[in-house]
Amino acid sequence: MHYLCKTDDVGDAEAKGFEIEGQSVLVVNHDAQLKVYMNWCPHLGIELNFMPDQFLDADKAMIMCANHGALFEIESGHCLSGPCSGDALIGVPHEVRGDEIWAGPLPEQT
Ligand code: FES
Repeated sequence: MHYLCKTDDVGDAEAKGFEIEGQSVLVVNHDAQLKVYMNWCPHLGIELNFMPDQFLDADKAMIMCANHGALFEIESGHCLSGPCSGDALIGVPHEVRGDEIWAGPLPEQT
């Protein structure tokens, strides 16, 4: 597993990007639950964001791909609207150790 950050570094309704082994991942804190996903949009297989740490929609209720506006449920990673509707973000195993967030190993990407 790889150390990402302190739990305090990702506030409620916030998301942050990190690199693990040269791959981009994002951590989302939603209702005090942490989720970690590969930063990989199932539509075109490219990163979700244009700007650093900009992964959420205006309401901070969904993960949004900046490329074509696909919206993903934070809880499950499922795409609920957009060109990859029915697909899902790829989850990354993670755990909280004390006040630290650790993640890995990275899943295989298709
Ligand atoms: S690349 Fe993400 S919606 Fe098209």
